[in-house]
Amino acid sequence: MLIKNASDIRSSEITPQNVYLNRRKFLTGVAVAGAAAVAGRGIKELMLPSMRASAGQKIDGIQKSALSTTEKITPYNDVTHYNNYYEFSTEKEEPASLAKDFKTRPWTVKIDGAVKKKLEFGVDDVIKFATPEERIYRHRCVEGWSIVVPWVGYSLSELIKKAEPLGKAKFVEFITKYAPNEMPGQRREVLQWPYVEGLRMDEAMHPLALLCFGMYGEALPNQDGAPLRLVIPWKYGFKSAKAIVRIHFTDSQPMTSWNLANPPAFGFYSNVNPNVETYHSQAYERRLGEFRPRQTQMFNGYDQVAGLYSGMDLKKNY
Ligand code: MTE
Repeated sequence: MLIKNASDIRSSEITPQNVYLNRRKFLTGVAVAGAAAVAGRGIKELMLPSMRASAGQKIDGIQKSALSTTEKITPYNDVTHYNNYYEFSTEKEEPASLAKDFKTRPWTVKIDGAVKKKLEFGVDDVIKFATPEERIYRHRCVEGWSIVVPWVGYSLSELIKKAEPLGKAKFVEFITKYAPNEMPGQRREVLQWPYVEGLRMDEAMHPLALLCFGMYGEALPNQDGAPLRLVIPWKYGFKSAKAIVRIHFTDSQPMTSWNLANPPAFGFYSNVNPNVETYHSQAYERRLGEFRPRQTQMFNGYDQVAGLYSGMDLKKNY
């Protein structure tokens, strides 16, 4: 898989220089890893089912989605080697190697709080609850870079409905894995651990909100959020929590890791809004693999969510 996209890889003139330089460093490693993967296929097939659903495994029965953009997809190598994942590192090039041995099985997901049915599932059961769809979404990071990724998953609402939230459930909190032995970044207090994110109920129920377990037709690589993450394409990337272990329904707006870390910079809503300056200007973005900056679109171009915020001042509720 890693080798497959080598032809997509352009040169330094279209990529931020640090990404490019780092990419050249790992390409040698990629070639070796690719050869090892082919040679190791026999071993992979002999593994127990519970160990099989690991990064790179093909996902069967994926349906195309009408919610996909037709824009050019960002090369796999960029999406898997330029990650924000503070549980592993604050350096974007490091999660790929530091998350390599992170254990994503067995993995339990709990659903609790203001629900009729408190539930607990193994992640492989969660993955099977609905038909996997390929959703090609734009993804915009608050630091000014963006990517276009063929994620695989299904609408978060499908899972939420199973728990039958009560009327008083106004918000959903996503609590992620706490495992400092495996996640070296958690041994430093760069954020409050575990990483927590939240959505209002109507945001979480919007069909675009994706419960994601794959990308590029395969199981998610660890650095991209395996085994289960969110992808909320109209919000800045940090709302898309990785490595989810608990989904908790509440009547009040939850505190989130970034909001706790720096309240003036990171609001709860965090809709992509080119008219709000956080600690970076949000007016432009640079897509990984491109040189020319693009103008950032309100809601990242996902105008169909605008109705969720009618009557709200999105400069104040950033
Ligand atoms: N989830 C967890 N658990 N930990 C993190 O540090 N970083 C967030 C988000 N989800 C983060 C996380 C941020 S800041 C961004 S921009 C996106 O993940 C990056 O997702 P990507 O690596 O798939 O591009």
